[in-house]
Amino acid sequence: MYIWAVSSLNHCKVHIKQIFENNRAWVKSKLQKDPGYFKKLSDGQHPKILYIGCSDSRVSAEELMGAAPGEVFVHRNIANMVPNTDLNVMSVINYAVRYLKVQHVVVCGHYFCGGVKAAMQQTDMGLLNPWLRNIRDVYRLHLDELNAIPGEEDRYKRLVELNVQEQCVNIIKTAVIQKAYKERNVRVHGWVFDIRTGVLRDLHIDFDRILQHIMQIYR
Ligand code: CO
Repeated sequence: MYIWAVSSLNHCKVHIKQIFENNRAWVKSKLQKDPGYFKKLSDGQHPKILYIGCSDSRVSAEELMGAAPGEVFVHRNIANMVPNTDLNVMSVINYAVRYLKVQHVVVCGHYFCGGVKAAMQQTDMGLLNPWLRNIRDVYRLHLDELNAIPGEEDRYKRLVELNVQEQCVNIIKTAVIQKAYKERNVRVHGWVFDIRTGVLRDLHIDFDRILQHIMQIYR
């Protein structure tokens, strides 16, 4: 994969007025390395990975993976959720798997996620309440394990991991993934990004076991 090399962009403060200036500098640096760069981009996309992550501004999907434009199909929302009734995320999964033929679907959560934190608290978040309720469902599913963790930060981190796992389960429940698994061995992965260290962790979700378990009920 391409390693992000446009360092001048990373150090800029992205003031709204500066964005177009940054963009021109970026175009220039791309064209210097490859005059046909944008022509090739416009020819079409063939990403191998669908990445579903949090909208958090600190978790920059492509940059933390060292991925270039065209390499990853990205969907982001608050707390990297995959509710089965959300037409937005379900459309993204369907399009990426059926038409773009991605080989991997990734749910990437992150420690210190504001969405997960909000779901652990009693605060009334208005319009966000039904969205956060999906995370509270994860808490309820794993209540015994979470309540047995003494430290609040450890409990918070574990809920982030369990939320990733449950969103992976939601993906594996979908017909499009079960079909793509049978046809061409599409895989689902659960990752966590640690904002404090910058390190990306694979949770090693047991995809095959979850799939077997789920297909008894959701096939
Ligand atoms: Co977050």
